[in-house]
Amino acid sequence: MNKNNISIVILAAGKGSRMKSSKAKVLHSISGKPMLYHIIKASKEISNDISIVVAHQQEAVIEQINAFFDDIHFVVQDAENFPGTGGAMMNIKPKNEKVLVLNGDMPLITAQALQGFLTTQDDIIMSIFDLENPDGYGRVIIENSHVQKIVEQKDATANELKVTTVNAGIYAFSKNILNKYIPLLNNDNAQAEYYLTDVIAMAKADGLSISPLLVDEENFKGINSKLDLAHAEEIMQNKIKAKWMNAGVIMQLPSTIYIEEGVVFEGECRVENGCRFTGNTLIIDSDIKAHTIIEDSVVKNSHVGPLAHLRPLSYLENTHIGNFVEVKESTLKGVKAGHLSYLGNAQIDEGTNIGAGTITCNYDGIKKHKTIIGKNVFIGSDSQLIAPLIIEDDVMIAAGTTLTSGKIEKGSLAISREKLRTIKDFYYKFFGK
Ligand code: UD1
Ligand code: CA
Repeated sequence: MNKNNISIVILAAGKGSRMKSSKAKVLHSISGKPMLYHIIKASKEISNDISIVVAHQQEAVIEQINAFFDDIHFVVQDAENFPGTGGAMMNIKPKNEKVLVLNGDMPLITAQALQGFLTTQDDIIMSIFDLENPDGYGRVIIENSHVQKIVEQKDATANELKVTTVNAGIYAFSKNILNKYIPLLNNDNAQAEYYLTDVIAMAKADGLSISPLLVDEENFKGINSKLDLAHAEEIMQNKIKAKWMNAGVIMQLPSTIYIEEGVVFEGECRVENGCRFTGNTLIIDSDIKAHTIIEDSVVKNSHVGPLAHLRPLSYLENTHIGNFVEVKESTLKGVKAGHLSYLGNAQIDEGTNIGAGTITCNYDGIKKHKTIIGKNVFIGSDSQLIAPLIIEDDVMIAAGTTLTSGKIEKGSLAISREKLRTIKDFYYKFFGK
C-alpha cells in the first residue's frame, strides 16, 4: 500500500464531558494504552501524514503521544471560538489529496477495518452502522437510499431520534471538499458547535453524492462514557486473546484473563484463569498458573503461580515461582521459590532453593539495596536477607536466620538463632490444668 495516498486527521480536542473525568477522554486507557495510541497505531499502517487536533489538556495529550510516536503533527483547535468537530478541522493542512478523518474516541479501529475508505474514489465516504440502541450517536437520514444529512441527537426531532442508522464518526473526503465546506460551517444548533457532520448536508445540496460505508461496532465503537470504556475494553481483550490463542497459547477460561497490548507470548505457553499480564511482558514456553499477575517482566521456560506476583523488571528463566511469592526487579535463573516470599532487587543463580517465608529486606527506609545469591544455595525458611548482601555459591542458610549486610563465603553455613529453651510442664502450670 502507498502510504502517501492518504492523510489522516484524528480529532482529539474535545472535553469528553460525558466521561465525568478530570482526564482527557482520549487519554483514558484501553488494554494498557491511551485510546489515542490505538488509533494512531492503526493509522500509521496506512498513512505517513497523521495530524492530531488537540485543545483540551493539550500538553498532557501531546506528551503522552510523543512518548510512543515521533512523527505526529499536532494541530491546535481554537476551541473557544470554534468548538465542535467542524471547528477541529479548521486549521488542518493535509499533504495528500484524500483525507481520512477519525474521531479520537474510537480505540477499536484497525488498519484492516479502514480499507473500505481507501479503495473508492468518491468525494465523500462516511461510516454508518445500525444499532438497537442508537443513543448518543448522530442519526443518518437516508431518503431513497441516498444520505441526506446527519442530525445530532441533541438537535433531532422525535421522529429522527427513532432512526437506528447512525454516523460511526469516520469520513474520507477529498481535500478540495474540505477546503470548500469547512469555512462555510456555522454553529446554529442545540450545542452552538461547528459540526463536521454538516458538511454532508451541504455537499448533498450541491448535488454531490455521499457514499455510506456500513461498518461494525466491533471496530468502530465510539467511547463517550465509562460504561462505553468498559465495553470497548472487553472487545479489545477478546481480540488480543484470540490473537494469542491462534498463535498457540493455551488459555483456560480466557474471559477471566487480562492481557495488555504490548505483551508477547512465544513458543508454547499455558495460562490458567484469572491471570493478568501488563506492560512489555514477554512469556516464552512457560506455564502460568491461576491468578498470577505479571507486570513488565520476562518469563522463559518457567512455572509461575498460582497466585504469584511478578512486578516490573523481573527476569525468570528455568525457574519455579509458587504461591504468594512476589518478585520485583530481580533476575532468577534456575531457581525454586515455592512459597510465601518477597524477592526484590535480587540476582539469584542456578540450583538455588528459596525456602518459604524468605524475605529480601531491600529497603532501608531511604534506598533500595541489592541481594546477590550464587549457585546451589539453600536458603532455609523464614530467613531475612538484609541488603546489601552477597551470598556466594554452595552456601546454606539455616531456617529463621537474619542475615545482616555483608558477604557469606562459598561453602559456609550461616545460622543466627537463640539457643532453644524448654520449660517442662509450663503449659499445665500456666492454665492450671
Ligand atoms: C460525533 C458525531 C456524531 C457521531 C459520533 C460517532 C459530530 C458533530 N457528531 O458525535 O454524528 O455519531 O461522533 O462517535 O461530529 N472533538 C474535537 N474538538 C471538539 C469536539 C470534539 O476535536 O471541539 C473530538 C473529540 O475529542 C472526539 C471526537 O471529536 O474524539 C468526537 O467528539 P464527540 O464529542 O465525542 O462527538 P459525538 O458527540 O460523539
Ligand atoms: Ca463520540
